[in-house]
This record gives sequence, C-alpha cells and structure tokens, in this order.
Amino acid sequence: MSSRRRFLKQGFLASNALVWTGFNTEAGIPMPLQSRLEDKPEAYWTELRKQFPLKAGHHFLNNGTMGPSPMQVIKAVQDSELYLNTEAKYGGWEETFKPLSAYVGAQEEELCLTRNVTEGINIIAWGLDLKSGDEIIVSNHEHVGNALPWLNRARVDKLNVKVLDYNLSDDALLEQLKKLITPKTKLIAIPHIPCTTGRIMPVKEIGEIAKKNNILYFLDGAHGAGMTDLNFAELNCDFYASCTHKWMLGPKGTGFLLIKKDKLDLVDPRFVGGYSDKGWTLLTANPHIEEWQDKAARYFYGTQNPSLYKGVVSAVDFLNEIGKTKVVARIKQLNDHLYSKLEEVGGLDILTPKNAHAGIVSFRIPGKDFNEAYRHFHHKHFIVRAVPECDVNCIRVSTHIYNSFQEIDSFAETLKEYR
Ligand SMILES: Cc1ncc(COP(=O)(O)O)c(C=O)c1O
Repeated sequence: MSSRRRFLKQGFLASNALVWTGFNTEAGIPMPLQSRLEDKPEAYWTELRKQFPLKAGHHFLNNGTMGPSPMQVIKAVQDSELYLNTEAKYGGWEETFKPLSAYVGAQEEELCLTRNVTEGINIIAWGLDLKSGDEIIVSNHEHVGNALPWLNRARVDKLNVKVLDYNLSDDALLEQLKKLITPKTKLIAIPHIPCTTGRIMPVKEIGEIAKKNNILYFLDGAHGAGMTDLNFAELNCDFYASCTHKWMLGPKGTGFLLIKKDKLDLVDPRFVGGYSDKGWTLLTANPHIEEWQDKAARYFYGTQNPSLYKGVVSAVDFLNEIGKTKVVARIKQLNDHLYSKLEEVGGLDILTPKNAHAGIVSFRIPGKDFNEAYRHFHHKHFIVRAVPECDVNCIRVSTHIYNSFQEIDSFAETLKEYR
C-alpha cells in the first residue's frame, strides 16, 4: 500500500471511530456480487445494507428528507477533499454531466448542477418572462421549496397564483386544471411527487393539457430522481428540478435542474459568473456579454465543491451497479409491504393512493395528534417524518434499498400498540 493510500485509510478509520461510534461498524465492505441478486435476493439486500452507515438500533424510514449515502460515496467525497487540499485546482465537476444526465434521461446540454432542488426552482422562477396579471398554477400540497419562490415572484411582479387541489382523484384533478386555465395562464409549477403524500401525480397527462394550451410546465422533482425510473425525455415537462441528496443517495447539498433544449432561451440567466458565458468584455466602448453558453450549465457559476460532485458520480455508479430499475423495484417492493402492513393494522387514514406510490406512504391516526405520534415513533427509534405542510398533518414513511421487511414489520407492530 502506498504511503498516500495508507494515510487516507488511516485517516478514514480514525474519523470512523470518532464520528460513527454506535453506527454500523461493518460499513465500507465491498458491494455484494450481482449474481446473488438473482439467486438469493434477500441475502443480497442484507449484504448491501452494510454499505450504509446506519445507526445501530435505529430504523431509518425518512429517505424522503435525506437519503443516507453508501460508504463508497462518502469515501469519494472524503478522498477528493484530501486531494483538493493538497492540489489547489479549479473545476473537477465537469465529469458529473455525462453520468448524471444519462441517469435521468436528459441530454448533457439540458443539465445544470445546483446545490439543491430549491436553487433549481429559483432559477426558473426568476428567469421566466412573467408580467403583472399573468397567472401561474401551483398545488395545495407544496413544500416550502416550491411555494416560496413562486409566491415571491408573484409578490414582486404582481402575478396571480392559482391553486390546484392535489386531494382530487386523477380525473377530477385534470378537470379542475382545465377550469383553472385562462388566457392569462403562463405556467404550471407543481410537484411530480408531493412531499406530503408521496403520490405519483399524473404528470404526463398534465403535460398534455399544458402543451395544448401553450403553457410552460415546471415540475418540482425532489422525489422523482432515484425513487422512480426518471426519464426527462418522456415526462412531457419543460423544466425539472431535483437533487441527489434524497433518493439518489448522493452527497448532501447536490442538486440539478433540467431544461428542455428548446426552452433554454426562455429562462434568462439572473445569477451568472465563471462558466455561464462564451465571452465578455469591459475593454471596448460597449462593455458587454458576448453570448451565454448554449447549454443549461449557463446557470451555474463560480467555484463549486468538486468533492461533492465526485460523490454524485459515485452515487450514480452505485445505483447503476445494482441497476436503476432494480433499485426502483426494491424501493416499491418494500413500500408495497409497508402499505399492506398499514392496511392490516387497520383504522388508519391512509392518504397515499395504493395505485400511485413508490417509496412513500403517508397516513393519519384518527384521534391522535400527528406530532405526538411522530415523537412516539422517534422515541421507539423509528425515524419517520411528521408532515405539517399545507395542514396535511400526517406521518410519512419512506422506504429505500437499505431498509428491510423486518424493520417494516416491527414499525407496524409499534404502530399497532400505539393506536
Ligand atoms: C417536494 C419537495 N420540493 C422541494 C424540496 C426542497 O428540497 P431542497 O432542500 O433540496 O431544496 C423538498 C425537500 O424535502 C421537497 O420534498
């Protein structure tokens, strides 16, 4: 082993001991062999779970907030940080575009790296040409990240905000949408999968209505990448903001924005700098920007943390090594199991439609306060999410590949006792 590698390994182990006391000590072992996935799937997933630094005795069921990264991602970030601090260099994130765009079914030119979903939403919210009296449509199940940017733009430019009812069935929702649209409607800006219920919305059908009415269509895709077999080319939307720090299990503080190529010039770059342009001058009679980059990377500017993007590449590698559709199928399999366990517990108000969910199920416990229930589950070491957004007031449970049938069963038992 070279001295540098030994240094990295020792540093890595030392920090393991300091930071991860009480965490899964087996984390960091190699990926299990793919052949096991066919032969002995449960053994495969059990082995794979060891890749994650999960806290011993805790049941992490809140991937919808933040996805834990497998050790190879954490290590890629850590190694890059060590390298960067000895080799001061610009750049290093360019290699993210190819694997990340391929993973989400976009072209490289359609992808802009961001720090989170909200940053992507703000780029669109401030870049579009919207004027006083224009109407935009959002939903009544928004996360603050897709509420504030639009409310803020509406505040500044006196736009009218209309609200689509995400409690309606697909057919009724599409009918309501048609009624909300007027000649002044310029944009639909709604979640692909709301943070509240995790329902997979009929986004393609909404896209058809948008197209027919010549309305721009933005999707808040915080939960789309990693949880679903996301394919931007087939989604029927113009803009899609997402992140890798949830369902893609990437480093925290890494996101991306997708913009259809033919819509690029509809989004005026507002925050710009190094990497946005193709040239600029202050040395002529007419100081000016010559041209923007002819790709979505024009909205990305200045020095970023390349280590985080090394981690993004590693997360994409990790998901691809297992297989994108296999990951999606496992998430769904565990969530289907959870769904049937909740039905078995009985007496719950399950908010997520059975025919339109992937990694999230949300429910209320009649007669119980959701915050109180949340505290109870945490006390029992089940890390779930309380959902106060838009007064939906429920408990949200997420499942990902590192979860197991057993921990879902014990969550159901705990719930049964509590109810
Ligand atoms: C639906 C939805 N939109 C937006 C966001 C904001 O994401 P970020 O914190 O990456 O900006 C979240 C975060 O949970 C979310 O669930």
